[in-house]
Amino acid sequence: MPRIIVTGSDGRFGKILQKLDNKLIFRNKIQLNILSQASIQKNLKRFKPTHILHLAGLSRPMKIHEKNISKSIDLNIIGTCNLVKESSKKGVKLIYLSTSYVYPGTKGNYNEEDALKPWNNYSWSKLGGECAVQMYKNSLIVRLCMTEKPFIHKKAYANVKTNFIYQEDAAKIILKLIGKKGIINVGGPNQTVYQFAKKSNKKIKRIYSKGEFPFRADMSLRKLKKILK
Ligand SMILES: NC(=O)c1ccc[n+]([C@@H]2O[C@H](COP(=O)([O-])OP(=O)(O)OC[C@H]3O[C@@H](n4cnc5c(N)ncnc54)[C@H](OP(=O)(O)O)[C@@H]3O)[C@@H](O)[C@H]2O)c1
Repeated sequence: MPRIIVTGSDGRFGKILQKLDNKLIFRNKIQLNILSQASIQKNLKRFKPTHILHLAGLSRPMKIHEKNISKSIDLNIIGTCNLVKESSKKGVKLIYLSTSYVYPGTKGNYNEEDALKPWNNYSWSKLGGECAVQMYKNSLIVRLCMTEKPFIHKKAYANVKTNFIYQEDAAKIILKLIGKKGIINVGGPNQTVYQFAKKSNKKIKRIYSKGEFPFRADMSLRKLKKILK
């Protein structure tokens, strides 16, 4: 049986997982501080996990990664590096949640081997974390595009394609990928944000991006579909 520690478990996605699977070992930032190697070591010693599902870090608002570069580097790059160093010493598998925004966002349908070009500081920080994780072969990188249910905005982009998936659905998929290694794109069908949002809110209004978001950050899910079939 895998013993899985979840870092950053009081965050948005951690809370979803808490409702789904009570066998996971949930550690919030007080219980497991990714900026302290001693704290990571203490948790590895106490729980002897087989896996770490790494959720801790800095996510929203996006602009914080432009305003506070230092915090973004610490939490998303250095914190992830600390976890890679400690898990590799103990042979613990590391599962890292990256983002679809590491792809250039221009042509869409990106597969896991495509060249990367993050479009903002958040995605640079996530790619920074990915670099360390990629060096440790006992790992899985999930490149993901997810959002809260119900869709929180009243307007949605009709000219921006993504693989938006609700967090609950993403969580169920990620739990099925625990045994996998390498990189896997995870998301819902390639569609515009408007098409996605319209399914749960018939009154949603169309808006058009002038470049605030990459127009085509949608990913190919061929690898994921093959695994799940
Ligand atoms: N949400 C998305 O759409 C999305 C998409 C793709 C990938 N991801 C990735 O998925 C992961 C989880 O996302 P999320 O939405 O749950 O993020 P989140 O809500 O920002 O949660 C991150 C958690 O990490 C905690 N944390 C901060 N500093 C820490 C430290 N030093 N040690 C340990 N924990 C610390 C935060 O605590 P405080 O808030 O109290 O500081 C928070 O509880 C993130 O890595 C994110 O980049 C998210």
